[in-house]
Parts: sequence; structure tokens; C-alpha cells
Amino acid sequence: MAKISVFGLGYVGCVGVGCLAKLGHHVIGYDVDANKVNRISKGLPTIVERDVDDLMMDGFNVGRIKATTSTEEAVAQSDISFVCVGTPNAPDGRLNISYLLSAVQMIGKTLRAKSTFHIVVIRSTVPPGTNDIVSTTIEKISGKKAGINFAVVSNPEFLREGMAVSDFLNPPLTVIGSEDKRALKMMHEIYEPLVSEIVEVSPKVAEIIKFVNNSYHALKVTFGNEIGAICKKLNIDSHQVMDLFCRDDQLNISSYYFKPGFAYGGSCLPKDLKGLNFLAQSHQLEVPVLSSIDLSNELHIHRALDRVQQIGVRSVGIVGLTFKAGTDDLRNSAAIQLAEAILGKGCTLRIYDRFLNIAQEKETNLRELNENIPHLLPFLEKNVEDVVAKTKLVIITVRNPEIPDLIRKYPHVHFLDLVRLKDQSVESLPNYEGFCW
Ligand SMILES: NC(=O)c1ccc[n+]([C@@H]2O[C@H](COP(=O)([O-])OP(=O)(O)OC[C@H]3O[C@@H](n4cnc5c(N)ncnc54)[C@H](O)[C@@H]3O)[C@@H](O)[C@H]2O)c1
Repeated sequence: MAKISVFGLGYVGCVGVGCLAKLGHHVIGYDVDANKVNRISKGLPTIVERDVDDLMMDGFNVGRIKATTSTEEAVAQSDISFVCVGTPNAPDGRLNISYLLSAVQMIGKTLRAKSTFHIVVIRSTVPPGTNDIVSTTIEKISGKKAGINFAVVSNPEFLREGMAVSDFLNPPLTVIGSEDKRALKMMHEIYEPLVSEIVEVSPKVAEIIKFVNNSYHALKVTFGNEIGAICKKLNIDSHQVMDLFCRDDQLNISSYYFKPGFAYGGSCLPKDLKGLNFLAQSHQLEVPVLSSIDLSNELHIHRALDRVQQIGVRSVGIVGLTFKAGTDDLRNSAAIQLAEAILGKGCTLRIYDRFLNIAQEKETNLRELNENIPHLLPFLEKNVEDVVAKTKLVIITVRNPEIPDLIRKYPHVHFLDLVRLKDQSVESLPNYEGFCW
């Protein structure tokens, strides 16, 4: 079983001490607040939280929990230090990591005299890049080398206050990010008694995931509340609506649509979102979440156009003009908006769209094609390679099985992928660029 020190004995640290002891580890707590150290050293929690009193006393009684006001003692008596100090917002909004750095500096100082390998685990929520900063800070202060004498692991905490003990012991996932194999192995051993999946990722992914999770939780609350406000005006039971909404785990509560890529379009999403915003407006309701979705989508199309302009070539190809793959439907297609904007910038354009070619051959949707995009029809090519061979930049808006080979065959053509082809072999090529990944 591991010997662990916990720096910071607040909500996360106190629960961490109790739960790590419950998993069988020997834990020593440290905090700048002597009162918290005093409580932990008697087996008492520093917070009010369900199940935590018994948890702490059980760990204390079997001799697995103690605390100290000495950082030297905490580091000397452990092989791993979990840092759980606060990271509040600075006045400009960024997370203030000064408490974290102060704790890390204290650990670094103590490591000067330590001859065994030590692991520092960042449990606090921190901005991406903090793992590197912590590593450099420890190297400077301790004179030791990352990867040789010590390692830093990013291991975000997912607990919710009120459910903290149960969340610690049953996390949805355990995320660990480190460049150090020895440290990752040790983390697997520490969490081995938990049944949850342990996922190894890069430190930056481990760091940003908490921002993403909590921002999405905030979005869910405000989305639900805006739906509630609209439903209330219409005398509709919003809880019945949202219960129904949550029962669809194919499209609503699912990974569907959660793929960073290009803007949405089509005949339904833009139309119905406008319809809902109209309902809110007609009841004088301000719904900033719902009313800014369309703006966000428009800005994403502009972002793609900005990138095309930065690349700075005049001859551009587009693969995919319909609003998504598998259909000849052009309504509200973001690719059409992008194509028109590119033409508007004076570029030459060639377009390949397999489904529009089929539509032209079969003469389906002919009226829509002639009425909606008469100005783009002359740019349609029958063959995807013709587009690639005759342009300098190819924008991919739908997946096409021929594209990876063409990326390899035409190294002088730049490919801007808006959908992610998911082909590892081309992602590292210099003429391939992912739009938002
Ligand atoms: N509270 C939650 O529900 C929760 C959940 C997940 C993640 N987090 C993250 O975990 C981190 C800690 O949150 P918290 O709610 O436990 O904070 P907290 O304020 O309850 O506890 C932080 C503790 O760190 C101590 N501290 C400050 N500087 C220190 C130092 N140099 N050395 C040792 N101890 C020091 C403080 O005295 C305090 O006891 C934050 O980054 C937070 O975002 C919190």
C-alpha cells in the first residue's frame, strides 16, 4: 500500500485523506491552516459532508491517518504528494495557481534532501500547462530532474460536495495525465481498488477536462432554466419536457453532436432554434443561452473563412456542399455559406459533392439545385481528384474515402479538414490541417 501526503485539507483534501485511507493507503495531511491539521490529526474532518465523520475516524483508528504542520515530515513520510489546495479566480477570471505553486515550492525544497523517487499529483483544478510549470518549479527549487528523481501527474478530482465520499469511491472515470511511465503505474496501483476505468491521457487533456465538464454542467443548468421559463409562460410542465428530453439517449444525452468540427446547418436545427427563440421573444423573455447559439454557429463559419484567408491561396476546392454527408439536402448548408464567402473574396472555386452528382444524374431535387445554388452549379466537378489536382487548398466538409490517398498523392496541396477524417496516417503529414483539434 502507498504512503501518501495530502497538501490542502479542505473539501477535496479532507475527503481525499479519508478515502485514500479507506483504500488501504497510509496518509499524512498537511495544511497551512493549523486548525485543520489539528482536526485531521485527531481523526476529525475539516468539513461538513455526508459519511465523512465515520470515514475519517475509521481511517484514524486503524492508524492510516495522521497530519502534520511540517512539510518536511509530510514529504519524508510519503512517496506521493496529492496537492489539493484552492485555485480561486483572479480578478481577470483566470485561475490563480499561486497557492498551488507555494505548496509545490515547499515540496521542492524538501525534495532536495530526499534520495528516493517522489510523485507530485495535481488534484486541484488548474489551467492547461500547469503540469509543466509545476515540473519546472520543482526542478529549479530541488535541483532534481523530472523523470529521474520525481514526476508530476495531473489527476483531476470529479467529486460533488454533498456526495463527495461516494463520488470519490465511485468516480465516472479516473483520469491520469503524465509523461512518466513509473508515475502512471503507481497511480494505477493507488486506484486499483476502485472499479472505475482509469484513462491515461496527456497532462493538458487531464487539466482541461475539468473546465470542460464544469462549463457543460453550467450550460445544462442554464439551458434547463431557459426551457423552464419558456414552458412556464406557455403553461407547459417543463419537468415533463426535460424528463422526456433526457430519455432520448441516442441524440440528446449521448456523444452524438459532441464532435468539434464544422457549423451545423440543414432544414431542422436552424429553423426550430429560431422558432423557440421567437416564442421566448414573444413573451418578453431574455434567453441568452438559446439566443446566442446561432451567433456562435455563424462565428464558426467566419473562423473557417479567416483560416482560408490566412492560408492565403487563391485557388480553393471544397469537398462536400450539402449540409451533411449522405444527403442531397442543401438547406441552410454551412458549406454553401463558406463557398459563397470564398468566392466573395475573389478566389476560384471547384466543388465536389458525391450526393449532388447523384442528384444531378438522377434528376432528383433538380428544381432546388437550380433555384438555390445556380451560382455554384458551374463549379461542380464530377471527380474528387479533379478538384484536388486543380487547386492549392482543399476544404473537406464531409468524409470521403478517397481523400486520405489524395492527401498523400498531392503533398503540395493543403488540406483543411473540417470534419476529422480520423485517419492517423495523414494527420501527421505537413499538408494536412485539422480545423479545431
Ligand atoms: N470543492 C469541490 O467540490 C471540488 C471538486 C473538484 C475539484 N475541486 C478543486 O480542488 C481544489 C481544492 O478545492 P477545495 O474546495 O477543496 O478548496 P478549499 O478551499 O476547501 O481547500 C483548500 C485548502 O488548501 C489549503 N492551502 C492553501 N495554501 C496551501 C499550501 N500552500 N499548502 C497546503 N495547504 C494550503 C487551505 O488552507 C485550504 O484548507 C480547487 O482547485 C477546486 O477547484 C473542488
